[in-house]
Amino acid sequence: MLIKRQRGIKTSEITAESTFRKRRMLLKTALAMGLIQSANSSAQDNLISLEAKDSDTRKKPFPENGQINNLKIWRGDIDLESTPFEDVTGYNNYYEFGTGKTDPARYAHTLEPHPWNVTVEGEANKTGTYALEDILKGHVLEERVYRFRCVEAWSMVVPWIGFPLADLLRKFEPTSRANYVQFFTLNEPEQMPGVRYPVLRWPYREGLTIAEAMHPLTLLTVGLYGQVLPNQNGAPLRLIVPWKYGFKSIKSIVRIRFMQDQPQTSWNMANAREYGFYSNVNPGKDHPRWSQATERVLGGGLFSARIPTRLFNGYAEEVASLYTSLDLNTNY
Ligand code: MTE
Repeated sequence: MLIKRQRGIKTSEITAESTFRKRRMLLKTALAMGLIQSANSSAQDNLISLEAKDSDTRKKPFPENGQINNLKIWRGDIDLESTPFEDVTGYNNYYEFGTGKTDPARYAHTLEPHPWNVTVEGEANKTGTYALEDILKGHVLEERVYRFRCVEAWSMVVPWIGFPLADLLRKFEPTSRANYVQFFTLNEPEQMPGVRYPVLRWPYREGLTIAEAMHPLTLLTVGLYGQVLPNQNGAPLRLIVPWKYGFKSIKSIVRIRFMQDQPQTSWNMANAREYGFYSNVNPGKDHPRWSQATERVLGGGLFSARIPTRLFNGYAEEVASLYTSLDLNTNY
């Protein structure tokens, strides 16, 4: 089936940051006044849910023009303001479009995110190639404001839109041998000028343990700031794994592979000493070439704050239990 082509995002259509903040403030006030009920199921303890207006994600897979059909906010312990939209979408790493931070915003318009297929293979009962609309069908989109920490020691706070990856992976019925999940990005020289250069092994690939992939914080992401994901941020489908360095959050996913053994990952293949498989945010484990103890908060221009980095990017309460039997210094 074909998916309806989404219009490009014009500046006039983007939810202004001030509007976004006002909306959040209203939500907070409404919550405090008891006007909105908190969801209370297990991992959803921290979520606010608003009544669904239209849960047909097949016809309207993405929120359009700032309208979110189903809104839940993962409140976490975010104590920073959301990073301005212009920084989230103008300062990127997407090497398929160049290695400069402004290259993706400049060149990613050649990426064609519709129609889009995702191939599922390996240790699962329901393998095959699925249209994006089938991947999204029936899932409730949520807005989750997450910290995002790049290995290069800068960070953002972003209101992502998506749904738990686990909800999708379960549908493929992974077998008992599925210990890991590997993800691949599109690899199309026609659309991605950067893949003509061997700066990384293409296609870009990443991997998680099955427990990490199934963790309720791991978000399959289709939007940000109430909008369809801009190409430079990984349209139409990317991962966000908020307790890991940003390079684990692979963009524009076309292949998901369930595996028995630990998968290869592009950055680890490029330099295993610098980029481990786990890559959990850890201020106590420096990158061989720089400290990871602090991070620069994007959005403040010359006056960007530098703040201490936190273990697991501040999500230790949620994810530390995944690593109790691992030495984080050797399994970096
Ligand atoms: N995914 C692909 N396919 N190609 C990339 O170059 N860069 C990674 C990650 N996902 C990358 C990718 C890195 S290094 C970071 S920090 C984040 O995307 C950046 O995400 P953002 O541009 O949305 O901030």
